[in-house]
Amino acid sequence: MSEISRRAALRGATGLAGLAALGGLASCSRPTGTAVGPANDAVAAAEAARRNPGGRLVTARLTPQPVTLDLGGRTVNTWAYGDTAPGPLLRLDAGDVLRVDVDNQLPAATSVHWHGLALRNDMDGVPGLTQDPIAAGEKFRYEFTAPDPGTYFYHPHSGVQLDRGLYGVLVVDDPDEPGRYDAEWIVVLDDWVDGTGRTPDEVLAELQAGGHDPMGDMQDMEGMDHGSMGGMEAMQSPLLGGAGDISYPHYLINGRSPTDPGTLSAKPGERVRVRFVNAGSDTAFRVAVGGHRMTVTHSDGFPVVPVPTDALLIGMGERFDVTVTLAEGVFPLVASAEGKQGQGLAVIRTAAGRPPSPDVKLQELSGQVLLGTALSAAESVRLDQRPTDRNHDLVLGGHMAPYRWTINGRTFPDTDPLQLTQGERVRLRFVNHTMMFHPMHVHGHTFALTKNGARKDTAIVRPMTTLDVDLDANNPGQWATHCHNIYHAETGMMTTLSYRTGG
Ligand code: C2O
Ligand code: CU
Repeated sequence: MSEISRRAALRGATGLAGLAALGGLASCSRPTGTAVGPANDAVAAAEAARRNPGGRLVTARLTPQPVTLDLGGRTVNTWAYGDTAPGPLLRLDAGDVLRVDVDNQLPAATSVHWHGLALRNDMDGVPGLTQDPIAAGEKFRYEFTAPDPGTYFYHPHSGVQLDRGLYGVLVVDDPDEPGRYDAEWIVVLDDWVDGTGRTPDEVLAELQAGGHDPMGDMQDMEGMDHGSMGGMEAMQSPLLGGAGDISYPHYLINGRSPTDPGTLSAKPGERVRVRFVNAGSDTAFRVAVGGHRMTVTHSDGFPVVPVPTDALLIGMGERFDVTVTLAEGVFPLVASAEGKQGQGLAVIRTAAGRPPSPDVKLQELSGQVLLGTALSAAESVRLDQRPTDRNHDLVLGGHMAPYRWTINGRTFPDTDPLQLTQGERVRLRFVNHTMMFHPMHVHGHTFALTKNGARKDTAIVRPMTTLDVDLDANNPGQWATHCHNIYHAETGMMTTLSYRTGG
Protein backbone atom coordinates (compact mmCIF):
# COMPACT_ATOMS: atom_id res chain seq x y z
CA MET A 1 0.00 0.00 0.00
CA SER A 2 1.28 3.46 -0.81
CA GLU A 3 2.10 5.89 1.93
CA ILE A 4 -0.64 8.09 0.54
CA SER A 5 -3.28 5.48 1.22
CA ARG A 6 -1.80 4.85 4.67
CA ARG A 7 -2.16 8.53 5.47
CA ALA A 8 -5.68 8.41 4.12
CA ALA A 9 -6.38 5.58 6.54
CA LEU A 10 -5.10 7.67 9.39
CA ARG A 11 -7.32 10.56 8.32
CA GLY A 12 -10.19 8.15 7.83
CA ALA A 13 -10.30 7.36 11.52
CA THR A 14 -11.03 10.96 12.41
CA GLY A 15 -13.21 11.49 9.37
CA LEU A 16 -15.58 8.72 10.39
CA ALA A 17 -15.81 10.05 13.91
CA GLY A 18 -16.79 13.38 12.40
CA LEU A 19 -19.57 11.79 10.37
CA ALA A 20 -20.86 9.90 13.35
CA ALA A 21 -20.99 13.10 15.35
CA LEU A 22 -23.38 14.53 12.78
CA GLY A 23 -25.72 11.71 13.64
CA GLY A 24 -27.83 9.35 11.61
CA LEU A 25 -25.07 8.26 9.28
CA ALA A 26 -23.57 5.46 11.30
CA SER A 27 -24.82 1.99 10.47
CA CYS A 28 -24.36 -0.65 13.13
CA SER A 29 -20.99 -1.59 11.64
CA ARG A 30 -19.78 1.99 11.50
CA PRO A 31 -17.82 3.02 14.57
CA THR A 32 -19.13 5.78 16.75
CA GLY A 33 -17.51 8.06 19.27
CA THR A 34 -13.94 9.27 19.15
CA ALA A 35 -10.98 7.07 18.29
CA VAL A 36 -8.43 6.63 21.08
CA GLY A 37 -5.38 7.45 18.97
CA PRO A 38 -1.76 6.53 19.69
CA ALA A 39 -1.11 9.95 21.26
CA ASN A 40 -4.10 9.69 23.61
CA ASP A 41 -3.55 10.04 27.37
CA ALA A 42 -5.12 6.59 27.84
CA VAL A 43 -2.18 5.06 25.94
CA ALA A 44 0.34 6.79 28.21
CA ALA A 45 -1.67 5.76 31.29
CA ALA A 46 -1.71 2.09 30.22
CA GLU A 47 2.06 2.25 29.73
CA ALA A 48 2.59 3.85 33.15
CA ALA A 49 0.59 1.03 34.73
CA ARG A 50 2.82 -1.56 33.01
CA ARG A 51 6.07 -0.01 34.07
CA ASN A 52 8.02 -1.90 36.72
CA PRO A 53 9.85 0.64 38.87
CA GLY A 54 12.68 -1.86 39.40
CA GLY A 55 12.92 -2.70 35.70
CA ARG A 56 16.05 -2.08 33.65
CA LEU A 57 16.45 -0.02 30.52
CA VAL A 58 17.75 -2.31 27.75
CA THR A 59 19.09 -0.56 24.66
CA ALA A 60 19.72 -1.84 21.14
CA ARG A 61 20.28 -0.58 17.61
CA LEU A 62 18.77 -1.89 14.42
CA THR A 63 20.04 -0.90 11.01
CA PRO A 64 17.77 -2.07 8.23
CA GLN A 65 20.07 -2.04 5.20
CA PRO A 66 20.83 -3.71 1.88
CA VAL A 67 23.18 -6.69 2.34
CA THR A 68 24.60 -9.69 0.56
CA LEU A 69 23.86 -12.89 2.46
CA ASP A 70 25.15 -16.42 2.12
CA LEU A 71 22.16 -18.71 2.65
CA GLY A 72 24.35 -21.80 2.57
CA GLY A 73 25.37 -22.58 -0.98
CA ARG A 74 23.57 -19.57 -2.40
CA THR A 75 24.39 -15.88 -2.20
CA VAL A 76 21.62 -13.30 -2.43
CA ASN A 77 21.27 -9.55 -2.34
CA THR A 78 18.55 -8.60 0.11
CA TRP A 79 17.61 -6.32 2.99
CA ALA A 80 18.28 -7.24 6.60
CA TYR A 81 18.72 -5.81 10.09
CA GLY A 82 22.50 -5.46 10.17
CA ASP A 83 24.43 -8.07 8.20
CA THR A 84 22.57 -11.25 9.12
CA ALA A 85 19.10 -12.75 8.80
CA PRO A 86 17.67 -13.31 11.33
CA GLY A 87 18.78 -9.97 12.76
CA PRO A 88 20.17 -9.51 16.25
CA LEU A 89 18.50 -11.37 19.12
CA LEU A 90 16.93 -8.86 21.51
CA ARG A 91 16.42 -10.06 25.05
CA LEU A 92 15.14 -8.56 28.29
CA ASP A 93 13.11 -9.42 31.39
CA ALA A 94 9.39 -8.86 31.68
CA GLY A 95 8.87 -5.39 33.12
CA ASP A 96 12.06 -4.02 31.57
CA VAL A 97 11.98 -1.16 29.12
CA LEU A 98 13.35 -1.77 25.63
CA ARG A 99 14.80 1.19 23.74
CA VAL A 100 15.70 0.48 20.13
CA ASP A 101 17.24 3.09 17.87
CA VAL A 102 16.40 2.31 14.26
CA ASP A 103 18.63 3.79 11.57
CA ASN A 104 16.92 3.25 8.24
CA GLN A 105 19.63 2.67 5.65
CA LEU A 106 17.19 1.13 3.17
CA PRO A 107 16.31 2.88 -0.08
CA ALA A 108 12.68 2.78 1.10
CA ALA A 109 10.54 3.84 4.04
CA THR A 110 10.17 1.23 6.77
CA SER A 111 8.87 0.58 10.30
CA VAL A 112 9.43 -1.98 13.06
CA HIS A 113 6.55 -3.93 14.59
CA TRP A 114 7.05 -5.91 17.82
CA HIS A 115 4.93 -8.92 16.99
CA GLY A 116 2.88 -10.32 19.86
CA LEU A 117 3.76 -7.80 22.53
CA ALA A 118 0.99 -5.99 24.41
CA LEU A 119 2.95 -2.75 24.23
CA ARG A 120 2.02 0.92 24.10
CA ASN A 121 0.08 1.69 20.96
CA ASP A 122 2.33 4.51 19.76
CA MET A 123 5.29 2.07 19.62
CA ASP A 124 3.45 -0.67 17.67
CA GLY A 125 5.15 0.26 14.41
CA VAL A 126 2.24 0.41 11.96
CA PRO A 127 2.70 3.33 9.54
CA GLY A 128 -0.48 5.25 8.92
CA LEU A 129 -2.06 3.89 12.07
CA THR A 130 0.39 4.37 14.97
CA GLN A 131 3.25 6.38 13.44
CA ASP A 132 4.58 7.94 10.26
CA PRO A 133 6.81 5.70 8.17
CA ILE A 134 10.54 5.97 8.87
CA ALA A 135 11.74 7.52 5.60
CA ALA A 136 14.89 6.31 3.86
CA GLY A 137 17.88 7.73 5.70
CA GLU A 138 15.82 8.65 8.78
CA LYS A 139 16.00 7.42 12.38
CA PHE A 140 13.31 6.47 14.85
CA ARG A 141 13.47 5.52 18.52
CA TYR A 142 11.14 2.82 19.84
CA GLU A 143 10.80 2.67 23.62
CA PHE A 144 8.29 0.57 25.54
CA THR A 145 7.79 -1.76 28.48
CA ALA A 146 7.69 -5.48 27.63
CA PRO A 147 4.89 -6.74 29.87
CA ASP A 148 4.73 -10.50 29.31
CA PRO A 149 7.44 -13.15 29.13
CA GLY A 150 7.66 -15.20 25.97
CA THR A 151 8.98 -15.70 22.45
CA TYR A 152 8.26 -12.78 20.13
CA PHE A 153 9.73 -11.34 16.95
CA TYR A 154 10.14 -8.07 15.15
CA HIS A 155 9.66 -7.19 11.51
CA PRO A 156 8.66 -4.25 9.29
CA HIS A 157 5.00 -3.37 8.89
CA SER A 158 5.65 -1.82 5.50
CA GLY A 159 4.57 -3.48 2.28
CA VAL A 160 6.01 -6.97 1.82
CA GLN A 161 9.39 -6.12 3.42
CA LEU A 162 8.96 -9.00 5.87
CA ASP A 163 9.54 -11.36 2.94
CA ARG A 164 13.08 -10.04 2.59
CA GLY A 165 15.59 -10.75 5.36
CA LEU A 166 14.02 -8.22 7.72
CA TYR A 167 13.15 -10.17 10.85
CA GLY A 168 14.64 -10.97 14.23
CA VAL A 169 13.67 -12.60 17.52
CA LEU A 170 12.74 -10.86 20.76
CA VAL A 171 12.79 -13.00 23.91
CA VAL A 172 11.20 -11.70 27.08
CA ASP A 173 12.41 -13.73 30.03
CA ASP A 174 10.40 -14.43 33.14
CA PRO A 175 12.62 -13.57 36.12
CA ASP A 176 10.56 -16.00 38.23
CA GLU A 177 10.63 -18.95 35.84
CA PRO A 178 12.36 -22.04 37.20
CA GLY A 179 13.92 -22.75 33.75
CA ARG A 180 13.71 -26.51 33.86
CA TYR A 181 15.99 -27.08 30.89
CA ASP A 182 19.72 -27.34 30.22
CA ALA A 183 19.99 -25.37 27.01
CA GLU A 184 17.95 -23.15 24.76
CA TRP A 185 17.83 -22.95 20.98
CA ILE A 186 16.09 -20.38 18.84
CA VAL A 187 14.82 -21.77 15.56
CA VAL A 188 13.54 -19.28 13.01
CA LEU A 189 11.73 -20.61 9.95
CA ASP A 190 11.49 -18.69 6.69
CA ASP A 191 10.41 -19.04 3.08
CA TRP A 192 12.93 -17.32 0.82
CA VAL A 193 12.69 -15.73 -2.61
CA ASP A 194 14.51 -12.39 -2.40
CA GLY A 195 17.62 -12.12 -4.57
CA THR A 196 16.89 -15.33 -6.49
CA GLY A 197 15.68 -13.44 -9.56
CA ARG A 198 12.76 -11.60 -8.01
CA THR A 199 12.09 -9.36 -5.05
CA PRO A 200 8.98 -9.82 -2.91
CA ASP A 201 7.59 -6.65 -4.51
CA GLU A 202 7.92 -8.29 -7.92
CA VAL A 203 6.25 -11.45 -6.60
CA LEU A 204 3.37 -9.32 -5.35
CA ALA A 205 3.12 -7.57 -8.72
CA GLU A 206 2.96 -10.97 -10.46
CA LEU A 207 0.22 -12.15 -8.15
CA GLN A 208 -1.71 -8.96 -8.81
CA ALA A 209 -1.17 -9.32 -12.54
CA GLY A 210 -2.83 -12.73 -12.35
CA GLY A 211 0.36 -14.76 -12.40
CA HIS A 212 -1.25 -17.54 -10.42
CA ASP A 213 -0.92 -19.94 -13.29
CA PRO A 214 1.65 -22.64 -12.62
CA MET A 215 4.18 -20.42 -14.46
CA GLY A 216 5.37 -23.16 -16.77
CA ASP A 217 7.90 -20.76 -18.22
CA MET A 218 9.50 -20.15 -14.85
CA GLN A 219 9.38 -23.60 -13.38
CA ASP A 220 12.16 -25.87 -14.55
CA MET A 221 12.10 -29.57 -13.76
CA GLU A 222 14.32 -29.24 -10.76
CA GLY A 223 11.92 -26.53 -9.75
CA MET A 224 14.44 -25.26 -7.28
CA ASP A 225 15.87 -22.10 -8.66
CA HIS A 226 12.92 -19.96 -9.52
CA GLY A 227 10.21 -19.07 -7.11
CA SER A 228 6.99 -19.80 -8.92
CA MET A 229 3.40 -19.11 -8.43
CA GLY A 230 1.73 -22.46 -8.32
CA GLY A 231 -1.95 -22.83 -8.96
CA MET A 232 -3.94 -23.27 -5.77
CA GLU A 233 -4.40 -26.91 -6.69
CA ALA A 234 -0.64 -27.33 -6.57
CA MET A 235 -0.34 -26.25 -2.94
CA GLN A 236 -2.81 -28.28 -0.93
CA SER A 237 -2.46 -29.60 2.57
CA PRO A 238 -4.70 -32.15 4.25
CA LEU A 239 -4.57 -29.99 7.38
CA LEU A 240 -4.81 -26.52 5.87
CA GLY A 241 -6.52 -26.86 2.49
CA GLY A 242 -5.03 -24.18 0.24
CA ALA A 243 -1.59 -23.92 1.80
CA GLY A 244 -0.21 -20.81 0.09
CA ASP A 245 0.06 -18.77 -3.08
CA ILE A 246 3.81 -18.91 -3.66
CA SER A 247 6.18 -21.81 -4.18
CA TYR A 248 9.53 -20.60 -2.85
CA PRO A 249 12.94 -21.64 -4.13
CA HIS A 250 14.36 -21.95 -0.58
CA TYR A 251 13.14 -22.78 2.90
CA LEU A 252 15.49 -21.71 5.67
CA ILE A 253 16.19 -22.43 9.31
CA ASN A 254 18.09 -19.63 11.02
CA GLY A 255 18.99 -18.21 7.62
CA ARG A 256 20.55 -21.43 6.25
CA SER A 257 19.33 -23.67 3.48
CA PRO A 258 19.48 -27.49 3.79
CA THR A 259 22.56 -27.73 1.55
CA ASP A 260 24.67 -26.10 4.28
CA PRO A 261 22.57 -26.24 7.44
CA GLY A 262 23.33 -24.77 10.84
CA THR A 263 24.28 -27.00 13.77
CA LEU A 264 22.59 -27.07 17.19
CA SER A 265 24.84 -28.68 19.80
CA ALA A 266 24.11 -30.20 23.20
CA LYS A 267 25.04 -33.19 25.34
CA PRO A 268 23.19 -36.50 25.29
CA GLY A 269 20.43 -36.57 27.89
CA GLU A 270 20.12 -32.81 28.02
CA ARG A 271 16.71 -31.24 28.01
CA VAL A 272 16.57 -28.38 25.53
CA ARG A 273 14.01 -25.63 25.20
CA VAL A 274 13.46 -24.83 21.54
CA ARG A 275 11.80 -21.53 20.65
CA PHE A 276 10.24 -21.82 17.18
CA VAL A 277 9.31 -18.69 15.23
CA ASN A 278 7.68 -18.81 11.80
CA ALA A 279 8.92 -15.65 10.06
CA GLY A 280 7.71 -16.89 6.69
CA SER A 281 5.37 -14.81 4.55
CA ASP A 282 3.28 -17.43 2.74
CA THR A 283 4.31 -20.78 4.26
CA ALA A 284 3.20 -22.80 7.26
CA PHE A 285 5.86 -25.24 8.45
CA ARG A 286 5.47 -28.73 9.86
CA VAL A 287 8.40 -29.27 12.25
CA ALA A 288 9.82 -32.38 13.87
CA VAL A 289 13.06 -33.73 15.31
CA GLY A 290 14.21 -37.08 13.93
CA GLY A 291 14.03 -39.87 16.52
CA HIS A 292 12.42 -37.65 19.18
CA ARG A 293 9.11 -36.40 20.41
CA MET A 294 8.64 -32.80 21.46
CA THR A 295 6.62 -31.45 24.37
CA VAL A 296 4.87 -28.19 23.56
CA THR A 297 5.02 -25.82 26.55
CA HIS A 298 4.19 -22.35 25.17
CA SER A 299 2.19 -20.91 22.33
CA ASP A 300 2.82 -17.30 21.19
CA GLY A 301 4.76 -16.74 24.40
CA PHE A 302 2.11 -17.94 26.85
CA PRO A 303 2.24 -21.26 28.74
CA VAL A 304 -0.05 -24.14 27.73
CA VAL A 305 -0.87 -27.45 29.35
CA PRO A 306 2.18 -29.37 28.10
CA VAL A 307 1.45 -31.79 25.24
CA PRO A 308 3.83 -34.33 23.70
CA THR A 309 3.70 -34.65 19.93
CA ASP A 310 5.62 -36.04 16.95
CA ALA A 311 5.22 -32.90 14.86
CA LEU A 312 3.91 -29.36 15.15
CA LEU A 313 2.28 -27.16 12.50
CA ILE A 314 3.33 -23.50 12.72
CA GLY A 315 1.51 -20.79 10.81
CA MET A 316 3.12 -17.52 9.75
CA GLY A 317 3.55 -15.30 12.81
CA GLU A 318 3.02 -18.14 15.31
CA ARG A 319 5.65 -19.08 17.89
CA PHE A 320 5.88 -22.27 19.92
CA ASP A 321 8.26 -23.30 22.68
CA VAL A 322 8.90 -27.02 23.07
CA THR A 323 11.22 -29.13 25.17
CA VAL A 324 13.12 -32.12 23.83
CA THR A 325 15.27 -34.55 25.78
CA LEU A 326 18.11 -35.47 23.47
CA ALA A 327 19.42 -38.92 22.66
CA GLU A 328 23.03 -39.52 21.67
CA GLY A 329 23.91 -38.95 18.04
CA VAL A 330 23.16 -36.68 15.11
CA PHE A 331 19.53 -35.82 14.37
CA PRO A 332 17.78 -33.73 11.73
CA LEU A 333 15.44 -30.95 12.76
CA VAL A 334 13.19 -30.53 9.74
CA ALA A 335 10.71 -27.79 8.88
CA SER A 336 8.68 -29.08 5.98
CA ALA A 337 6.87 -26.44 3.89
CA GLU A 338 3.25 -27.48 4.43
CA GLY A 339 1.52 -28.29 1.15
CA LYS A 340 4.60 -27.27 -0.83
CA GLN A 341 7.78 -28.88 -2.14
CA GLY A 342 10.79 -28.36 0.07
CA GLN A 343 12.01 -28.16 3.61
CA GLY A 344 14.31 -26.35 5.99
CA LEU A 345 16.95 -28.28 7.93
CA ALA A 346 19.12 -27.86 11.00
CA VAL A 347 21.46 -30.50 12.41
CA ILE A 348 21.21 -31.47 16.07
CA ARG A 349 24.45 -32.90 17.34
CA THR A 350 25.09 -34.59 20.70
CA ALA A 351 27.85 -36.90 19.39
CA ALA A 352 30.08 -37.37 16.37
CA GLY A 353 28.48 -38.77 13.26
CA ARG A 354 27.51 -38.12 9.66
CA PRO A 355 25.14 -35.23 8.99
CA PRO A 356 21.71 -35.97 7.51
CA SER A 357 21.20 -35.41 3.80
CA PRO A 358 19.47 -32.16 2.76
CA ASP A 359 16.34 -34.03 1.66
CA VAL A 360 16.13 -36.39 4.64
CA LYS A 361 12.55 -37.61 5.12
CA LEU A 362 11.34 -37.72 8.72
CA GLN A 363 8.68 -40.23 9.66
CA GLU A 364 7.75 -38.04 12.63
CA LEU A 365 6.36 -35.52 10.14
CA SER A 366 3.63 -37.97 9.20
CA GLY A 367 2.95 -38.99 12.79
CA GLN A 368 0.79 -37.05 15.19
CA VAL A 369 0.71 -33.37 14.08
CA LEU A 370 -0.39 -30.73 16.54
CA LEU A 371 -1.97 -27.37 15.69
CA GLY A 372 -1.93 -24.41 18.07
CA THR A 373 -5.71 -24.36 18.12
CA ALA A 374 -5.69 -27.76 19.88
CA LEU A 375 -3.79 -26.47 22.91
CA SER A 376 -5.21 -25.60 26.33
CA ALA A 377 -4.13 -22.66 28.43
CA ALA A 378 -2.05 -23.22 31.53
CA GLU A 379 -4.11 -22.37 34.61
CA SER A 380 -2.00 -19.27 35.33
CA VAL A 381 -2.93 -17.54 32.05
CA ARG A 382 -6.60 -18.43 31.68
CA LEU A 383 -8.95 -15.49 31.18
CA ASP A 384 -11.44 -15.22 34.02
CA GLN A 385 -15.07 -16.12 33.33
CA ARG A 386 -17.20 -13.11 32.52
CA PRO A 387 -19.93 -12.21 30.09
CA THR A 388 -19.07 -10.91 26.63
CA ASP A 389 -19.72 -7.18 26.25
CA ARG A 390 -19.26 -7.01 22.51
CA ASN A 391 -19.06 -9.34 19.51
CA HIS A 392 -17.39 -8.78 16.18
CA ASP A 393 -17.46 -11.07 13.18
CA LEU A 394 -14.49 -11.02 10.83
CA VAL A 395 -15.56 -12.75 7.64
CA LEU A 396 -12.49 -13.75 5.65
CA GLY A 397 -12.89 -13.66 1.87
CA GLY A 398 -10.90 -13.25 -1.29
CA HIS A 399 -9.69 -14.73 -4.51
CA MET A 400 -6.63 -15.22 -6.66
CA ALA A 401 -7.89 -13.35 -9.75
CA PRO A 402 -7.97 -10.50 -9.22
CA TYR A 403 -5.61 -11.06 -6.30
CA ARG A 404 -7.55 -9.53 -3.44
CA TRP A 405 -8.20 -10.58 0.15
CA THR A 406 -10.88 -9.14 2.40
CA ILE A 407 -12.30 -8.90 5.91
CA ASN A 408 -16.05 -8.33 5.94
CA GLY A 409 -15.90 -7.78 2.19
CA ARG A 410 -13.56 -4.80 2.43
CA THR A 411 -9.89 -4.24 1.74
CA PHE A 412 -7.72 -2.18 4.08
CA PRO A 413 -7.69 0.77 4.45
CA ASP A 414 -11.20 0.94 2.98
CA THR A 415 -12.63 -0.88 5.97
CA ASP A 416 -14.92 -0.32 8.92
CA PRO A 417 -12.82 -0.37 12.11
CA LEU A 418 -14.02 -2.82 14.76
CA GLN A 419 -15.07 -0.67 17.67
CA LEU A 420 -14.44 -1.51 21.32
CA THR A 421 -14.33 0.32 24.63
CA GLN A 422 -11.65 -0.03 27.26
CA GLY A 423 -12.70 -2.50 29.96
CA GLU A 424 -14.87 -4.68 27.74
CA ARG A 425 -14.65 -8.42 27.18
CA VAL A 426 -14.76 -8.76 23.40
CA ARG A 427 -15.40 -11.85 21.32
CA LEU A 428 -13.98 -12.00 17.81
CA ARG A 429 -15.40 -14.61 15.46
CA PHE A 430 -13.18 -15.37 12.48
CA VAL A 431 -15.33 -16.88 9.73
CA ASN A 432 -13.24 -18.27 6.90
CA HIS A 433 -15.23 -18.32 3.66
CA THR A 434 -12.22 -19.23 1.55
CA MET A 435 -10.55 -22.51 0.61
CA MET A 436 -7.23 -21.42 2.14
CA PHE A 437 -6.05 -21.17 5.72
CA HIS A 438 -5.38 -17.73 7.19
CA PRO A 439 -3.17 -17.21 10.27
CA MET A 440 -5.06 -14.31 11.86
CA HIS A 441 -3.09 -11.93 14.04
CA VAL A 442 -4.29 -9.26 16.49
CA HIS A 443 -1.87 -6.56 17.60
CA GLY A 444 -1.46 -5.43 21.21
CA HIS A 445 -3.41 -8.30 22.80
CA THR A 446 -3.11 -12.01 23.50
CA PHE A 447 -6.58 -13.44 22.97
CA ALA A 448 -7.94 -16.70 24.38
CA LEU A 449 -9.37 -19.44 22.17
CA THR A 450 -12.89 -19.98 23.49
CA LYS A 451 -12.61 -23.74 22.99
CA ASN A 452 -9.86 -24.42 25.51
CA GLY A 453 -8.52 -21.08 26.58
CA ALA A 454 -5.06 -21.20 24.98
CA ARG A 455 -3.66 -17.69 24.82
CA LYS A 456 -2.44 -16.67 21.38
CA ASP A 457 -1.97 -13.61 19.22
CA THR A 458 -1.89 -15.50 15.92
CA ALA A 459 -4.15 -18.45 15.17
CA ILE A 460 -4.73 -20.57 12.09
CA VAL A 461 -8.28 -20.39 10.76
CA ARG A 462 -8.77 -23.39 8.50
CA PRO A 463 -10.80 -23.21 5.26
CA MET A 464 -14.58 -22.93 5.69
CA THR A 465 -14.33 -22.97 9.48
CA THR A 466 -15.02 -20.54 12.29
CA LEU A 467 -12.72 -19.70 15.18
CA ASP A 468 -13.91 -17.78 18.26
CA VAL A 469 -11.50 -15.90 20.49
CA ASP A 470 -12.02 -13.63 23.50
CA LEU A 471 -9.93 -10.71 24.59
CA ASP A 472 -9.96 -8.16 27.35
CA ALA A 473 -9.89 -4.62 26.02
CA ASN A 474 -7.14 -3.45 28.35
CA ASN A 475 -4.67 -1.84 25.95
CA PRO A 476 -6.15 1.32 24.44
CA GLY A 477 -5.24 2.47 20.95
CA GLN A 478 -5.70 1.57 17.29
CA TRP A 479 -4.57 -1.99 16.60
CA ALA A 480 -3.96 -3.67 13.28
CA THR A 481 -5.73 -7.02 12.92
CA HIS A 482 -4.84 -9.04 9.86
CA CYS A 483 -3.87 -12.21 8.11
CA HIS A 484 -0.17 -12.96 8.63
CA ASN A 485 0.15 -14.15 5.07
CA ILE A 486 1.93 -10.93 4.20
CA TYR A 487 0.64 -10.99 0.60
CA HIS A 488 -2.92 -11.29 1.88
CA ALA A 489 -2.43 -8.49 4.40
CA GLU A 490 -0.86 -6.24 1.80
CA THR A 491 -3.71 -6.77 -0.67
CA GLY A 492 -6.41 -5.99 1.85
CA MET A 493 -6.91 -8.67 4.52
CA MET A 494 -6.50 -6.26 7.39
CA THR A 495 -8.71 -4.18 9.62
CA THR A 496 -8.32 -2.43 12.97
CA LEU A 497 -9.50 -2.93 16.50
CA SER A 498 -10.42 0.63 17.31
CA TYR A 499 -10.73 1.73 20.93
CA ARG A 500 -13.27 4.53 21.16
CA THR A 501 -14.76 6.76 23.80
CA GLY A 502 -18.18 8.32 23.88
CA GLY A 503 -19.63 5.77 21.42
CU1 C2O B 1 3.68 -9.76 12.64
CU2 C2O B 1 0.83 -6.94 11.97
O1 C2O B 1 2.27 -8.37 12.27
CU1 CU C 1 -4.65 -14.98 4.54
